[in-house]
Amino acid sequence: MRITLSTLHKMMRDGQKISMLTAYDASFAALLDAAGLETLLVGDSLGNVLQGHESTLPVSLRDMVYHTQCVSRGAKRAFIIGDMPFGTFQISPQEAFRNAAEIMAAGAQMVKIEGGRPMLDTISFLTERGIPVCGHLGLTPQSVHQLGGYRVQGKAEDDAQRMLDDARILEQAGAGMIVLEAIPAALASQITAAANVPTIGIGAGVDCHGQVLVLHDMLDVYPGKKAKFVKNYMKGAGSIQEAVALYVKEVRDGTFPGREHSF
Ligand code: KIV
Repeated sequence: MRITLSTLHKMMRDGQKISMLTAYDASFAALLDAAGLETLLVGDSLGNVLQGHESTLPVSLRDMVYHTQCVSRGAKRAFIIGDMPFGTFQISPQEAFRNAAEIMAAGAQMVKIEGGRPMLDTISFLTERGIPVCGHLGLTPQSVHQLGGYRVQGKAEDDAQRMLDDARILEQAGAGMIVLEAIPAALASQITAAANVPTIGIGAGVDCHGQVLVLHDMLDVYPGKKAKFVKNYMKGAGSIQEAVALYVKEVRDGTFPGREHSF
């Protein structure tokens, strides 16, 4: 039976950690599904790891629809989240709805939108019309040029306060989940304690309700420089299945991420 957003909210309330990895094709989606991951993210990180771009900015709606279709054919149980690519949700809530609807029709059960307060109207518009939305705060890769690089966010007191406020605002707008990327573990812990929806961390410490990594990073097949928060699960593993099983176990028992993967 398909995992739903209600299943994930219940896991949060019961104190059970949620495991997520990115997936872009049917074969890996089936493998991750069989490994018991609760959620798969069709991330626009496919721009980096599949297409070889330096950022996620060139990823199109067409790319996201295609890869979401592939993943949804492979995964029968996991909850599937599709990223809204750069330029498809910023102009108006109406346009965002039209584009999100394509990702949902491709097989996603939720869309992910990067950004805080400025996304409030769009998130309300989508969630009031039946499209679940996952927020994404902290290091938002689509804003890499605005942020001046892939840097840890929320270190200064005023930035940290803004992120705490943004998390509350996203939740009030209807976001059903929030990804926290590359922020101090203590800040993620505060956001998580105040949240009534699951927080999923990537470089945000162990206190989040769940964890996500980019599949090609944790399998050590991406040739680029690795972020501090990435753990190479292929090290010592006899197979991809074994590596993924260890990731799921470590997320569930709280041994990943360790202090060495956190800020
Ligand atoms: O696109 C992606 O893979 C993501 C994760 C890094 C959270 O947004």
